[in-house]
Amino acid sequence: MESLLAPDAPAASTAVEPRTPSLADATWDEAAAWSRPWLRVALAALLLAASTGVLLRFGLVRGMPAWAANYGAVRHAHSHLMYFGWGTLAIMALIWGLLPLQTGRPRPRSATWLLALTALLSLLSFPAFWANGYGRTLVLGRELPLGSMAAAVNGLPWFWFAGLYAVNTWRLPSRTLAVQLWDWALALLLLASLGALTLGMQVALDVESAALREASLHLFLDLFATGWFVLAGLGLLWALLGEPQLHSSVRRAPWLPSMALALPLAFTFVLGMSPAVVTPVAFWMAALANLAAAALLALHLRALWGERARLPLLVRVALLFLAVHVAAALVVLVPGVWRVAVGGQLRVFYLHNLLLGFLSTLLMGLALPLLRGRSFAHARSGEERFERWVALLWSVGVALLVLALLGLGLTRWLPVSSGLFLRMAAWSSLLPPLAAALALLAPAPRRNKAPAS
Ligand code: HEM
Repeated sequence: MESLLAPDAPAASTAVEPRTPSLADATWDEAAAWSRPWLRVALAALLLAASTGVLLRFGLVRGMPAWAANYGAVRHAHSHLMYFGWGTLAIMALIWGLLPLQTGRPRPRSATWLLALTALLSLLSFPAFWANGYGRTLVLGRELPLGSMAAAVNGLPWFWFAGLYAVNTWRLPSRTLAVQLWDWALALLLLASLGALTLGMQVALDVESAALREASLHLFLDLFATGWFVLAGLGLLWALLGEPQLHSSVRRAPWLPSMALALPLAFTFVLGMSPAVVTPVAFWMAALANLAAAALLALHLRALWGERARLPLLVRVALLFLAVHVAAALVVLVPGVWRVAVGGQLRVFYLHNLLLGFLSTLLMGLALPLLRGRSFAHARSGEERFERWVALLWSVGVALLVLALLGLGLTRWLPVSSGLFLRMAAWSSLLPPLAAALALLAPAPRRNKAPAS
């Protein structure tokens, strides 16, 4: 284990105390300083995408305004910016920030260029989807499938990321739990990218096949969320909990699954597809794989909950949403539920519980102290008052929004009109972008000491 020590760490074998707090803080500082500018860009993307979500939510109550008339296209602009510009950029920034502490190897210089390209392409995807989504748009007299083109080029940095990461982590003497989870997160990201590529090709080549379209859409959309986002997020949590010099995330939880979790996750995208193109056998295989993945996720959840005293408030809230996600795997097994849920509002609830409730709350929890000019070490030692208020605003908004989406999904069984839940979803949707704006715009109260290199 000691051979993995970061180059700037003291030799643990010669020290009386295995960990020197000031040095550890300096190391966390360097990681935070590296990630911080990219987290700002990611948060700006979140702000734009979440504001578009507010527009959509109020559009569902009062109708869309003339300048955003194509609801489906605006929804694609929202979801793609959330995926590429917020979730993926923030995760990549945090992984590259924390990776040297896990491997003891320096981060590659080109990681900066990679994140710049990821940010640029993801922001460009927003106007590309806005007018016609995956349809064709007239540009300089030619009809171009702008959305499909944007989806395809946004995949390029993922391959670059995977290549750089593979070189940087090649033949490590031992792989920490965080690194193992990131390995498999990347494997599932590459698998999901096949879906995006196939989807783009179908539009570009005018291929008409409902089954192929459903399969590629959900291989991309669903596996990106349940595979890449979930495994990468778990890896970030274990990286944060481990001591950088001693890699104790491995010692603390050597038995927690990574590959065993990734394998069943790879099949769960089938549950997002339309029942019209999914056979009963395919459904049951996917539902059982989903159940197995949920059981393994529950192991992580239990271990992480045991560490909750060392986690920021927002991360604890994120774990509650993850628990709801795990429970949903049982609900899907109830006969008839999947058929009703998959094409309707329950799916919107399911997606936002995972993507907004778990992933975005987790990323906000990790990013918030850093954006305030503090380090990862502070992220583990509790929030200052301003951070607590932002965390509260975010959590209340997200919880009310997700509850309203659940209500919308259940209206046919509830004695409450859908109008009430639609209005609740619209008004509560104002809070997450407000919290994101505060996190982004509030001046940092104090500066960290110069980061150690
Ligand atoms: C900040 C609060 C958010 C609001 C107000 C919001 C709002 C919406 C709305 C209104 C829809 C369309 C629902 C429908 O047509 O019934 C939608 C769809 C979607 N959203 Fe969000 N959303 C939010 C956060 C997120 C986040 C954080 C992510 C991902 C990281 C995300 C990903 C998606 C996806 C994947 C879809 C489905 C898109 C599609 O089918 O094309 N959303 N959202």
